[in-house]
Amino acid sequence: MLERQSKPLDFSACKIPEHVAIIMDGNGRWARSKGLPRVAGHRAGAENLRRIINACVEFGIKILTIYAFSTENWGRPESEVRGLMRIFARVLDQEIGELHEQGVCLHHLGDLEGVEAKLQDKVRRAIELTKDNDRLVLNVAFNYGGRAEILHAVRQMLADDISPEILTEELFSSYLFTRGLKDPDLVIRTSGELRISNFLIWQAAYSEYYPTPAFWPDFGREGLYEAIVAYNKRDRRYGLVPDES
Ligand code: FPP
Repeated sequence: MLERQSKPLDFSACKIPEHVAIIMDGNGRWARSKGLPRVAGHRAGAENLRRIINACVEFGIKILTIYAFSTENWGRPESEVRGLMRIFARVLDQEIGELHEQGVCLHHLGDLEGVEAKLQDKVRRAIELTKDNDRLVLNVAFNYGGRAEILHAVRQMLADDISPEILTEELFSSYLFTRGLKDPDLVIRTSGELRISNFLIWQAAYSEYYPTPAFWPDFGREGLYEAIVAYNKRDRRYGLVPDES
């Protein structure tokens, strides 16, 4: 039993997934349901992200990958994009020291070049500061798209003169932004949507998928616990029959 923070949670019969990936959806609807502007939903989403990072450290999850901003999200109203960039910058400024103390190692997935120079700089400094931490790897998919990631990998392989004869799934994976990391065991999507939305489309080929109706700001530590309990009821067969898996 772990009895930190609020409710005690029973993990005695639970296998903790090593890598959890989350599509943090529903900030806008959460805000609308309270008569607030969308950006207030993103602020509440950032607060919930803090709770989830703490819970990952508490539960012993080793890798957390979050979908923070997709290559498609640039098409949102300018005021919302600006609001989101401000939140990312503020979270980096205010939280990185504590994340570092917690043993969080920050990684970025996506194209950083496409982002405002000041924010790029903050991200690079945060990555450098936390690079030797090993309690939790936090992958932030930011200006990220799964198809763009695959094209990026193919371009790099062509530039490296990789010949078709030596190309394997392992070699291909080593050209992705997640190189060296285990594929996600569990992909969570909040807000009830049943889509993968261009997120980790190579890496999540055999992940267990957990959709939940909760909007992201309401998902919380207990929501993560319930996702882990549900994950433990799954039979991961990787295309085999039960006895072989
Ligand atoms: C999806 O909800 C959420 C996003 C596009 C942004 C996610 C960002 C945060 C949770 C802020 C904190 C993140 C970091 C990395 C500091 P939506 O806006 O699509 O919601 P809707 O579907 O209800 O409109």
